[in-house]
Amino acid sequence: MSVRRLAEDHRQPGGFAFNRAMTAEAKKWLKKYPKGREQSAVIPLLMLAQEQEGWVSKAAIEHVSDMLQMPKIRVLEVATFYTQFQLSPVGSKAHIQVCGTTPCMLRGSDELIRVCKSRIHEEPFHLNEAGTLSWEEVECQGGCVNAPMVMIFKDAYEDLTPERLEEIIDAFDAGKGDTIKPGPQNGRTFSAPASGLTTLMDKAAIEKKVRVSSPAKSKAAPKPAAKTAKVAAIAASPALDDRNRPAAAEKPAEPDDLKMISGVGPKIEGILHSLGIFTFKQIAAWKKAEREWVDNYLKFKGRIEREDWAKQAKALAKGGRDEYVRVFGKEPR
Ligand code: FES
Repeated sequence: MSVRRLAEDHRQPGGFAFNRAMTAEAKKWLKKYPKGREQSAVIPLLMLAQEQEGWVSKAAIEHVSDMLQMPKIRVLEVATFYTQFQLSPVGSKAHIQVCGTTPCMLRGSDELIRVCKSRIHEEPFHLNEAGTLSWEEVECQGGCVNAPMVMIFKDAYEDLTPERLEEIIDAFDAGKGDTIKPGPQNGRTFSAPASGLTTLMDKAAIEKKVRVSSPAKSKAAPKPAAKTAKVAAIAASPALDDRNRPAAAEKPAEPDDLKMISGVGPKIEGILHSLGIFTFKQIAAWKKAEREWVDNYLKFKGRIEREDWAKQAKALAKGGRDEYVRVFGKEPR
């Protein structure tokens, strides 16, 4: 696995901006997330930057962080973590990512790497003479059952032999990558057994089994009493008139943004509002039994304590964002 760092300064462009088409795409992605949660679009936006430029430059990372109002270091962390993001210029026609993790290694990935070395460059991340191709070794791409495999841009090419990889490289180098169908290259369907079915061959038995386990039948099947009781206990919400339910308040003209508490999203905020909880001060004042009541009501299984809502709410009630940063050493959400 290679060390993932930004390209050297002399290879970095002076700036970055999305072109018109990518700006429209970026807007579409941003709309997919609730207001206040746009930072969740960091991966799609970085992918768009890569689609536009072929790789992710420092300027692109800064541009995305400005768009999402996110600390630059957090976008940098994402870009340097995932091998899908190229941090320096790669081949203009194809960048071959060869999986070298154990299942692929046992199925011949070293032979695929040998092909890349001889056809492209001895070293990973170096361009071939024409600047059209490059390669690298990556960790498991989740296609082990079709090992060995490579990724080229967004597509996986699986069940490879060295000869087939050479053909694929030729096609991409000739600008005809779209003539190669991604997926298994040995004719099998997805991950079906390469030598034909060995199980689930009795169609009649399968259909019978499907009928027996249909919802109507299984509904009638007796359930063990203990299990049923346990499920019912878990499913039951605490009573709204329970004495441990926190006191409800009138909705103020400007409720606090409860989503600033880690663990509270728009949906949970809506539920808290329905319980009459609108301010950090209210949450900071909850006693343990009240926190437990809310935790049960939200079916959180202890999350309120784990995420320390009390401490978060106390900091936010005392001094807002600044106090939160002082106490936790990071921005609230
Ligand atoms: S080991 Fe190569 S895809 Fe999983």
